[in-house]
Amino acid sequence: MRAIYNLMTLKNVNCAPIIHKILGTFFAFWLVFFLLTTLFIIGFYQEISFLEKLLHNSYKVFFIWIILSILVHFLLWILLRNSISPLVHLITHFKNSETLQELEIPKNLSEEITDLFKILNKSILNLKALQEKTIEAEKNAAIAMTIQLLAHDVRQPFLMLQTILKTLTMQKDIAQINSIIKTLVPQVDRNIQKVNGMLIDIMEMGSQSEKLQLESICPESLISSVVKENLQIYNNADIAFSFNFSHQHKIKANMSKIERVFTNIFLNALQAMNFKGKIWIQTRDVIINKKLFIEFCIGNNNSFIEKEDIKNLFNAFFTKAKKSGTGLGLAAAEKIVQSHDGQIWCHSVKNDHFSAGMVEFYFTLIAADELAVKKNLKLPAHSSNLFAKRLEL
Ligand SMILES: Nc1ncnc2c1ncn2[C@@H]1O[C@H](COP(=O)(O)OP(=O)(O)O)[C@@H](O)[C@H]1O
Ligand SMILES: [Mg+2]
Repeated sequence: MRAIYNLMTLKNVNCAPIIHKILGTFFAFWLVFFLLTTLFIIGFYQEISFLEKLLHNSYKVFFIWIILSILVHFLLWILLRNSISPLVHLITHFKNSETLQELEIPKNLSEEITDLFKILNKSILNLKALQEKTIEAEKNAAIAMTIQLLAHDVRQPFLMLQTILKTLTMQKDIAQINSIIKTLVPQVDRNIQKVNGMLIDIMEMGSQSEKLQLESICPESLISSVVKENLQIYNNADIAFSFNFSHQHKIKANMSKIERVFTNIFLNALQAMNFKGKIWIQTRDVIINKKLFIEFCIGNNNSFIEKEDIKNLFNAFFTKAKKSGTGLGLAAAEKIVQSHDGQIWCHSVKNDHFSAGMVEFYFTLIAADELAVKKNLKLPAHSSNLFAKRLEL
């Protein structure tokens, strides 16, 4: 803003329209003023020709013109410095700032403009206080909702067990009893797993930063167990898998926490694609700041995340298009990955190749010194390879 105070640099400054207008008016006024003073001064000598008069009196014209010009420049400078420039400063500040930020009040301003600064600063303070209250209220509402969901989901397996036990006591035929158990137990399992997952995420979000117990983990084994365990519960899924591992080392991570990251991203994918489509899991070595990391990619087709939602995905309580989402899964995943000095991000597109969209979650984890051992884990090419035929009641 300083540049605006300086008339020499005015033309180089990307000024506000108001300054353009003032300068335009000023220079027009200056020109008219120059012509009038010239005419006025030479008007005293009417007996000689106009040109002669002008030449004869040019030093006077020039002298008076210079004095008056300096005076007018000085007035313009005062006007710009004390009124217009602070106003432009105020406008530019609020136009460009995305956050509410108070302004330092410049000295030597006219009283009205100082008042304007004070009023705006006070409004900003009030808005900030209101914003904090709204965020707090939203958080409380989200916590209340999560507790309600949790209470509902905790009750579910108990109610199911109660029903199963009641039904079983009424059965006499052992084959019938076996059939009921085989059908209903996976459902109870699924509900218990869901509650367990919710509790782990809630506990993760509430936990303070702690020293992690790290161990060397083979990524392939971890991925294999996450995929198999979750598909055993969601045994009606119709998913084609592709795995592409090109990491060389194991990862250095806390087993239970990192398992939760894979599970949350994997379950989100299954739910978002309505348990139908393709899932691909890939790894590769990457070097970040001279340190070896393994980058994981868990991708799925048949779902899409809008650009404006991507930036909110990892915020606690952000949930969309789900009946019983808590919005804690990805927030917990981000917290865990970051506590392992890694990064997590998401990429989603919709195009001719992925007409229903595709989503990929990437995250990096530090590589352990130990090399990964290639195991014959028999990863499934399709979900149907994993679970026994579903039994109908
Ligand atoms: N693979 C995906 N495809 C589409 N949307 C996704 C995917 N993964 C996550 N999301 C979106 O991110 C939101 C936040 O996920 P998350 O934090 O796990 O909370 P929750 O699963 O409880 O809703 C989900 O509600 C969903 O809208
Ligand atoms: Mg989730």
